Amino acid sequence: METSSGKKFKRTTITSALPYANGPIHIGHLAGVYIPADIYARYLRSRGEEVIFIGGSDEHGVPITIKARNEGTSPQQVVDKYHEIIKKSFEELGISFDIYSRTSLPIHHETASAFFRKLYEDGKLIEKVTQQYYDEKAGQFLADRYIVGTCPHCGFEKAYGDQCEKCGTSLNATDLIEPRSALSGSKPVLKDTKHWFLPLDQYEAWLREWILEGHKDDWKTNVYGQCKSWIDLGLQPRAVTRDLEWGVKVPIEGAEGKVLYVWFDAPIGYISATRHWAQLTGGDWEKWWKSPDTRLIHFIGKDNIVFHCIIFPAMLKAEGSYILPDNVPANEFLNLEGDKISTSRNWAVWLHEYLEDFPGKQDVLRYVLCANAPETKDNDFTWKDFQARNNNELLAILGNFVNRTVVLTHKYFSGQVPPATHLMPDDEALVAELASFPQRIASSIDNFRFREALNEMMNLARLGNKYLTDNEPWKKWPAETDRVATVLNLSLQICANLAILAEPFLPFTSGRLFRILNLQPLRWASAGNAYLLSAGHLLNQPEFLFSKIEDEQIQKQLDKLEAARKANLMKAPAAPAKQDIDYEAFARMDIRIGTILEAEKVPKTKKLLRLKVDTGIDTRTIVSGIAEYYNPEEIVGRQVCVLVNLAPRNIKGIESRGMILMAEDRDGTLRFVSPEAHINNGSEVK
Ligand code: 2FM
Ligand code: ZN
Repeated sequence: METSSGKKFKRTTITSALPYANGPIHIGHLAGVYIPADIYARYLRSRGEEVIFIGGSDEHGVPITIKARNEGTSPQQVVDKYHEIIKKSFEELGISFDIYSRTSLPIHHETASAFFRKLYEDGKLIEKVTQQYYDEKAGQFLADRYIVGTCPHCGFEKAYGDQCEKCGTSLNATDLIEPRSALSGSKPVLKDTKHWFLPLDQYEAWLREWILEGHKDDWKTNVYGQCKSWIDLGLQPRAVTRDLEWGVKVPIEGAEGKVLYVWFDAPIGYISATRHWAQLTGGDWEKWWKSPDTRLIHFIGKDNIVFHCIIFPAMLKAEGSYILPDNVPANEFLNLEGDKISTSRNWAVWLHEYLEDFPGKQDVLRYVLCANAPETKDNDFTWKDFQARNNNELLAILGNFVNRTVVLTHKYFSGQVPPATHLMPDDEALVAELASFPQRIASSIDNFRFREALNEMMNLARLGNKYLTDNEPWKKWPAETDRVATVLNLSLQICANLAILAEPFLPFTSGRLFRILNLQPLRWASAGNAYLLSAGHLLNQPEFLFSKIEDEQIQKQLDKLEAARKANLMKAPAAPAKQDIDYEAFARMDIRIGTILEAEKVPKTKKLLRLKVDTGIDTRTIVSGIAEYYNPEEIVGRQVCVLVNLAPRNIKGIESRGMILMAEDRDGTLRFVSPEAHINNGSEVK
């Protein structure tokens, strides 16, 4: 293949970021990494290119050990559980990895150890003794995430040793004010420890030339820009080892109790996954990593850019026997309903749950996430947009076109492809336009513009729909049989083209479409021509490619998110105490026990109830904003606390005298504060 920058390659190694096996996959991962990577892999295969598509779980790193500690299990149990969930959900979504491996396998430990040892033996690493926080009670060094303290920038008291999650500042553990160990709560002490560093500063000039000169025109602007700012800031040596138990042991003497830093071993995971694939298939792994004829492409999210564009290439360069990435088409982030996706806040659409809630609708998610992919800027996923794209695009354009064409062919020609006898100028124009689609879609994909490519593919369905509507075969039947035959023939040719061109994006739909057309799957090279189906070829029965998504299904998803939002609010800490007041200030409030005698909704309001209350002093009207939490009939007879000397207020035209005291939960729910046994109305609350 020849790339847009004119370089020639024989094969392509596609990698997709190895997700941490400490939680399931969500739509942010999919839109950022796995959907574009899968489209690219499928597209190249359809073009007859030699491709390997690598995936796997990243099973090391502190978040995994923290999760294990919190859940009272072992890191191995955590990764075993999530590796299975992740692998299964990828398979069900049709992510077509050649291998989905894992970094806890022996083959990975061997590969990563050998890589480190080579750098060590070749003198490519620097040994340094530094001071790091140590927990004397727990008897271990503390990784950044195990240290909490006060953020020196915003004063947040639970900032981590590497980042303050309140103000977002990235920190060094020694920046924290009053650091504490998250393991024992004790004050950590600084202690000497030896580590190995990759001297990135020594690669600065080379990186500048390789990226800033060499990839100015073919890397995405967001990727190039991030690389440029990192390099311009000046690169520092980076520690590639850590004082931890869980990970790949540092394979040299004098390094007991130390493991490779997770970001050192994870990208080597791509290489070990390829070796794993070779073990299973008998294939040759080295050509995918060592041949200059191989093009290496990393699909990642923007938070991984520095690791894949600067650190991993420097590691590969230092090792010396591997190829370097030719492109790193990183995406920006996908938000959900206007808010950042967050695992800890459960603000996400989880793939395994989607697959359960929308069986058979894998392609709908693939479509929406590609159509909305955060290719150049952060984007938002909303359930309403998901529904609209299914109902108004997939169903109304693609599904409708195929269905009309196939149903009419069955109706008029007993399911046999009719002949195209005489082409009119409009038909000729259609055939010519059809011929231009494969190249247009290909060029967008070649440049990693997947949204544009998908839209082009849909334009072919739009073209088909318009052609059918303009020619109205249903009105011409039976008077103009030949004309109807030609129109349906060409429409069917478009369907066959769609089956080919949709495959990278919508593999399940493409499979169904080939089945309806009774065709063996065809490859990209066949697309663009109007002779894929010969006259007389018998179609299978029509089946619906898509079905309508109803409001109730969407509401169910929105309710799920609302529940997550509430659950988060409930976890929030209590509001801090207000300023002190003296007893007199408190005593000025006259609070009495009263009984609600009557209750009714205030018309045209959502929140208000008009109450008649016996306060023991008098019977009065109070308007209270509790209608979302209580029905009028359930509260009559109930005893409550009433602030009786609150100055009267006019609420929606009603004079409200006093206020019912309510306790407000973290999610805003209001509850009465009532005496625990009956007490005379008018009794004072003090
Ligand atoms: O950010 C992440 O989820 C990392 N686990 C990605 C690793 S990519 C590669 F280096 F393995
Ligand atoms: Zn802060």
